Amino acid sequence: MQTLQTTSLRVVDNTLWILDQQALPQQKNWLPADTVDALVGHIHALRVRGAPLIGLSASLLLALLAEHGMTRDALGQALEVLRAARPTAVNLMNNLDRMKQALAQPDYATALGAEALRLVQEDRELCERIARAGSALVTPGSRLLTHCNTGGLATAGVGTALGVIARAHEEGNVANVWVDETRPLLQGGRLTAWELGELGVPYQLITDSMAAGLMAQGLVDAVWVGADRIAANGDVANKIGTYSLAVLAKYHDVPFYVAAPQTTLDPACPNGAAIPIEQRAAAEVTGVAGSFGAVQWAPEEARVYNPAFDVTPASLISGWVLDGGVVTPEEVAKGRFAG
Ligand code: MRU
Repeated sequence: MQTLQTTSLRVVDNTLWILDQQALPQQKNWLPADTVDALVGHIHALRVRGAPLIGLSASLLLALLAEHGMTRDALGQALEVLRAARPTAVNLMNNLDRMKQALAQPDYATALGAEALRLVQEDRELCERIARAGSALVTPGSRLLTHCNTGGLATAGVGTALGVIARAHEEGNVANVWVDETRPLLQGGRLTAWELGELGVPYQLITDSMAAGLMAQGLVDAVWVGADRIAANGDVANKIGTYSLAVLAKYHDVPFYVAAPQTTLDPACPNGAAIPIEQRAAAEVTGVAGSFGAVQWAPEEARVYNPAFDVTPASLISGWVLDGGVVTPEEVAKGRFAG
């Protein structure tokens, strides 16, 4: 396969490498993801994360394994193991459905390689279109609030919600970005803060519990988040804490936008209640760990509830900003996402 480089994926000498998103921003470690076990391990540990990136990394690995001579049967098994790596982000399943069609071609190794590269290129273009459509909604002097990380680290391109923010900044319309730290794994505090700093976008880091006070003081003009899955009725699964922001935004009359590519749509999923939500390890809530070390503050025996995502009902969303443009609540109510 040709050499490839995105913010957090690399293919060099027919090997897939990932930028360890658990070690950022203190360390920039590129790790090999050359077997199914290795990539699934990286995905579980959130070294590879973000809905689009999970699907792209799995697709690239499959293509590389085919290039290295793996049989069609073994590739089929590998595909199913990768599909089960994380349950919520539907981009993984959507991308692997396309790879499965390539696997059925007579020259499957060539077809898989071409399809994986196509998915990467398409994701770049989808991000560009989302950024263009979304930035048109950002008014001069905007103070925007975002949650989790939806930037170049999480996609092959400029990102989704963060791509909108970056484009709006280039257009001179962003006064400040409030970055939710995003407990428990701090994707906002570690990754979004880092990306905005690299891009020169003015931001202030806040803890998740500060958004209400900011909105009450009139300091937030719009909320921009990404999505892991959009159901047929417009309900959205995204990083835990997104729903509380949407409730707050509704109460304070602040627009709440979801930015996502078409690979995040799941027309077969009727509503948010049908979206599988990943439960994660207790240790992520009883303490914190990273390149800075590990600490536990909760009692050893503390019982923990740790869903990685929550569901925001369509009724709280002002607009779904997709690569095809802005979809309104009226269009969603008429079945726009129902396929
Ligand atoms: O658990 P994560 O870090 O993979 O969760 C990521 C999110 O919730 C993002 O908002 C979503 O995947 C969109 S990334 C463009």
